[in-house]
Amino acid sequence: MNLLGIDIGGSGMKGALVNAETGEMLTERFRVPTPSSKKPEDMSKVIKKIVDHFEYDGPVGCGFPTIVKNGVCTSPGNLHKSWVGVNIDELFTKATGHEFTVLNDADAAGYASMNYGIGKGKEGFVLFITVGTGLGSGAFYNGKLLPNFELGQIPYKKYSKIEDWASSRAKENEDLSYDKWGKRFNKFLSIVELLVNPDLMIVGGGISKKWNQFEHRITIDTKVLKAELMNHAGIIGPAVACLHEKHHGHLQL
Ligand code: BGC
Repeated sequence: MNLLGIDIGGSGMKGALVNAETGEMLTERFRVPTPSSKKPEDMSKVIKKIVDHFEYDGPVGCGFPTIVKNGVCTSPGNLHKSWVGVNIDELFTKATGHEFTVLNDADAAGYASMNYGIGKGKEGFVLFITVGTGLGSGAFYNGKLLPNFELGQIPYKKYSKIEDWASSRAKENEDLSYDKWGKRFNKFLSIVELLVNPDLMIVGGGISKKWNQFEHRITIDTKVLKAELMNHAGIIGPAVACLHEKHHGHLQL
């Protein structure tokens, strides 16, 4: 079944058609910058634009960069605070006329990795970390998703959340080299390792393309792998999750 997957981030909103049975991306991705207001009305207009671009008719899977509980945003992440309490599923369905399945972006990207990427078949506790405007985390135990882990929210030094110090946005804002940023990222991973002790961590998001420029900085004991699907996991994951939800009535791996 071909489904539209949409990855919503703090800086860009991207969509592509995906074969949700094989996890293959069938089209180029179409990207629209996230409206600077980061408000529900403005962002739902972009969602409509993405759906229209593909002349798509069918259910849509969408990764969203906040906590998502039963389709409702319960914490704003790096978006506008007016998102809190909004039923994202309903809002986007109303804007487009299509049924939506919305889940946290890192959960969605991890979902792709655990089904079709490097995480496939990996048992135990696997943490998928996405590095972008924020630091997202998707947790899987024996392949099953434990939704809404928010490890980027850990306070660190003067920062109310460590993602403000160790995300790609922090790297850009402070003009850090990959080496300097990699040292910070490793600190983040070491705190995560200490707190939740995963068996494996997988790192995705745009920055994973530059893996060889910061890999030498990753020195924690836990095994850390680069997400092979890279940036596409954010689009493939929600489409696959949407299909699974249709088949099983809930997300299932
Ligand atoms: C949000 C998470 C999200 C992450 C990556 C954080 O600011 O709290 O829900 O997964 O950014 O987008």
